[in-house]
Amino acid sequence: MAKLGYPFTLGVASGEPLPDGVILWTRLAPEPLHPTRPGGMPNQAMAVQWQLAEDEAFARVVQSGTASAQPDWAHSVHVRVTGLRPATEYFYRFSIDGHSSQVGRTKTAPDPASTAPVRFGVVSCQRYEHGFFTALRHLADERPDVILHLGDYIYEYGKPAHPKAGRYVRPLESEAECRTLGDYRNRYARYHMDADLQAAHAAAPWIAMPDDHEVRDNYSGALPGDGTSPAAFLKRRAAAFKAYYEHLPLRVRPSGPSLQNHRWRPYGRVVDFVLVDARQHREGRDMLGPEQEQWLAARLKGATARWKVLAQAVFFAQRKFPLEPPSTDAWDGFPESRARVLAEAPDGLVVLSGDVHNGWACDLRADWADPASKALGVEFVGTSVTSMPPMTDATAILALNPHIAFFDHRRGYLSCTASMDDFQTDYRVVDFVDRPGAPVSTAAGFRVKGNKLQRTDL
Ligand SMILES: [Fe+2]
Repeated sequence: MAKLGYPFTLGVASGEPLPDGVILWTRLAPEPLHPTRPGGMPNQAMAVQWQLAEDEAFARVVQSGTASAQPDWAHSVHVRVTGLRPATEYFYRFSIDGHSSQVGRTKTAPDPASTAPVRFGVVSCQRYEHGFFTALRHLADERPDVILHLGDYIYEYGKPAHPKAGRYVRPLESEAECRTLGDYRNRYARYHMDADLQAAHAAAPWIAMPDDHEVRDNYSGALPGDGTSPAAFLKRRAAAFKAYYEHLPLRVRPSGPSLQNHRWRPYGRVVDFVLVDARQHREGRDMLGPEQEQWLAARLKGATARWKVLAQAVFFAQRKFPLEPPSTDAWDGFPESRARVLAEAPDGLVVLSGDVHNGWACDLRADWADPASKALGVEFVGTSVTSMPPMTDATAILALNPHIAFFDHRRGYLSCTASMDDFQTDYRVVDFVDRPGAPVSTAAGFRVKGNKLQRTDL
């Protein structure tokens, strides 16, 4: 067989940290945008070597092995490493055929008894053609313990016929909307060739939750949202989830059109990350589906960490608009589901979300209209990495919604530090994404006191 071209063009990643293990990821793709053969790879399984070390120079290798990259999974590799020490930094790399990958840094979750602070980043909505992933580069520089990605990892759209200013800054690999497995694979390849995205994956383990654009705009359960048949849509969803798995360091493979995304990732006694899928299981007026909702209720009830972090894709608090009706795509479209979740709200509830391409901070209250009603927790809504925001009359929205405390219109990410007695969130922002190199600054900071927001930067 001819020698392989450099196959690590899509970078490396790690994810799903546990106290004793992590998933290591790469995908072999010497020609990442090849139109017919995924990654330009031969149609055969390939053996990839991996190494995990305690130091960046790989002087102290603690584990190594060989993983099989299968053509059925686009030659992606998901190594399930176990037997590691908790709260420990490790470095990893892959090699094949004389080629070595870049080095990734990862970190295991802490021991269940740990009270050490947890530092994590929160990102969502990275639309490639809208700009440069500078925010991801700044987050990578923070070297957090873990990064949460709350949806719209890719956008399935093609190139608009007449893009508005700032809406087609970087060319996609194809001008067509993604519909087939081959389309989605090449869209992910396009994204993974980005140096800033590679840096963020190589800097920390990720825990990712898809929203709609990993499949199709505003899809809801088995309904595509354009009136076409669920049967055809579920085939598309299966292709989209397969490509999603092939490009992220996940523990669980999809099974046809289903991918189990709800999960619990404890970080010592400080944080319980509880992740729910607010997209795939929608049915009628039900946001989560009965099975997932029961699981969530039990999880919130059983959570013992100081902070119960409910991480999911869409705006959770009530949001009244001056002119339009409430969003039917976010939790406002599912008020009974939201009320049932809030009925289980434990002390120390922090909801994280994305989707709206602006930063917001909200108090969660027993009665949205009554500022004196019981404080049930807080919500931090992260802005987009690049996706352009909608026109928003923020002043009117803040006036109509007294429980919403903050708005910022810039691109960026959330930088959070949780400890046994504090939960701090900084809204990190960049002023432009239409060219590289924007510096980062902090638009606002909040801590949580008595299940309420308290601003820290004024
Ligand atoms: Fe988005």
